[in-house]
Amino acid sequence: MTTALRPRTLEVFLGERSYPIHLGAGTLAAAGDAIARHTKATHAVVVSAPAIGRRYGATLVRSLRQAGLRTTRIDVPDGDAAKSLRQASRLYERLLASQADRSSVVVALGGGAVGDLAGFAAATYLRGVSFVQVPTTVLAMVDASIGGKVAVNLPQGKNLVGAFHQPRLVWIDIATLRSLPLRDRAAGLAEVVKAAAIRDAGFFGQLERDAERLLALEPAALLPALERACAIKAEVVSRDEREEGLRMLLNFGHTLAHAVEALTGYRRVLHGEAVSMGMAFAARRSEQLGCAPAGTAARLTALLERLGLPIELPRRPRSAYLAALKVDKKRRDARIHYIVLRGIGRAEAVPLTPAEIVPAASGRPRS
Ligand SMILES: NC(=O)c1ccc[n+]([C@@H]2O[C@H](COP(=O)([O-])OP(=O)(O)OC[C@H]3O[C@@H](n4cnc5c(N)ncnc54)[C@H](O)[C@@H]3O)[C@@H](O)[C@H]2O)c1
Ligand SMILES: [Zn+2]
Repeated sequence: MTTALRPRTLEVFLGERSYPIHLGAGTLAAAGDAIARHTKATHAVVVSAPAIGRRYGATLVRSLRQAGLRTTRIDVPDGDAAKSLRQASRLYERLLASQADRSSVVVALGGGAVGDLAGFAAATYLRGVSFVQVPTTVLAMVDASIGGKVAVNLPQGKNLVGAFHQPRLVWIDIATLRSLPLRDRAAGLAEVVKAAAIRDAGFFGQLERDAERLLALEPAALLPALERACAIKAEVVSRDEREEGLRMLLNFGHTLAHAVEALTGYRRVLHGEAVSMGMAFAARRSEQLGCAPAGTAARLTALLERLGLPIELPRRPRSAYLAALKVDKKRRDARIHYIVLRGIGRAEAVPLTPAEIVPAASGRPRS
């Protein structure tokens, strides 16, 4: 095996709740051993959406059994349909029926939605049982599975009921991405670009070199890129678990992304696509506000476009965007901590009103 493909491990440092993120290519069958070692559990409950369970569930369950654990498999609905109190409640009932107790571990196998639901159930069932993430989307690998935020949605909005519940282990096998549609790959890569844009210019250059290879899931390009993106999220989470200063930078592109998602009713636009639009917008605003040197936005949007990501906000009246920004839950008083770039690789939060974020100039938030 070449060095580029060797499995690697990062650590999220959170005192006694520290945990490793393991990345590899073709390592799913080795997950059971690691899960047994890191949780000391005797019973594993693998939670997944049916299509993912069919593809990868058997390999994971077999490795858990070989590691000596009793196993239970639970199917939940696909995507955000999983993230409801009703589904959480059904999950509790099935956990009870499987006699899950404090010696059980809940293993989320799937995208961020399944991870959020399974993690929420793990955080609350019996006041908390151990939890492991086996993410199978790019977005879940570099973002949702790291940091311990777990939640379900309410009809009124996303992630309104949740908890902080850190996993004991994050097990990433990039071979599981082979079945992920191109559009979802690109959307996840938007968060990888975000990590580079706010924190690491050298990494950004690496993404510029490798964009097409990343989309094609070439392990020699993808593994180091996901590792660096995970490391950035892990570093931010380690230094700032509960979202005060530093963690705010991860919101780069997200203020407008949340507005786009609200305005489009969370349909048609994937989260990563909304983030791409929000980042392109924020980079242009960063230049207009005199925060970033000219050319910053052009470099960012060029990379996003090579990844097949959208860089223009949906055409809606400015008033619609202003209204959507006013319900952004990151709002503090009348100002929002808006994340601007200082240049490629450096970001900061600037308190701005919605009207300053989306200026009247064009009548629409397009620049
Ligand atoms: N907890 C956090 O910190 C955090 C951070 C970001 C996002 N999230 C949440 O994550 C969710 C989005 O995550 P996502 O983008 O992974 O979406 P997702 O979980 O909805 O998955 C997207 C689609 O891909 C499918 N899929 C997953 N893995 C696959 C594979 N290997 N092959 C083929 N298909 C596969 C899923 O079944 C689903 O249909 C949202 O609910 C969001 O709120 C949470
Ligand atoms: Zn995001």
